[in-house]
Amino acid sequence: MNQDELKRMAAQAAIDHVKGGIIGVGTGSTVNHFIDLLAEIKHTIEGAVSSSEVSTERMKAHGIPVFDLNATGELDLYVDGADESTKHLHLIKGGGGALTREKIVAGASKRFICIADESKLVDILGEFPLPVEVIPMARSHVARQLVKLGGTPVWRDGFITDNGNIILDVHNLRIMDPVKTEQDINNIAGVVTTGIFALRPADLLILGSPSGVTVID
Ligand code: 5RP
Repeated sequence: MNQDELKRMAAQAAIDHVKGGIIGVGTGSTVNHFIDLLAEIKHTIEGAVSSSEVSTERMKAHGIPVFDLNATGELDLYVDGADESTKHLHLIKGGGGALTREKIVAGASKRFICIADESKLVDILGEFPLPVEVIPMARSHVARQLVKLGGTPVWRDGFITDNGNIILDVHNLRIMDPVKTEQDINNIAGVVTTGIFALRPADLLILGSPSGVTVID
């Protein structure tokens, strides 16, 4: 099986957790499978809250109603992918640049199910360059502070987030204490969001593998 088939397998397993209501929906190629599968059972849900313009467009194309988070209150379920996850369900997210809205919807949800292919499971976060969303005028200042933390920030040139900000991808970090590193980066003036999801980790990780689905909670 190829990686895309493993992603679809994880997305299919997450569909079993959809029990109606309004579903929080993440962003990325794994979530795209989830959206396509959600469309097949759209008559059983009220709709969705989206974490990005691209997921909104895909859901609308399927006829899934998309609601503003301000109009829904707390959500029962959020489903999203990840770039890396530990067995403690600490994540790196933001490879697609949607980390800020993803963190907002995850924070507004009672349960966060992360879906991925098995290659995303790691012992230590940081091999995948850590995305950090930054206010444009703070780019150089934030980059200098990230160097002090031991990282090598690289400006994701030509990319603007849905919120009008830029992304610094931080290479060469070995994130031994994800909660502390998330807090340290959050404390840098000009940082909007760090792609570490440890203060609010996933609640369940569903991994697609050639031998079937693995679930970690
Ligand atoms: C987007 C994300 C994605 O969930 C992450 O990049 C994983 O993407 P994919 O499912 O395409 O591997 O955080 O901002």
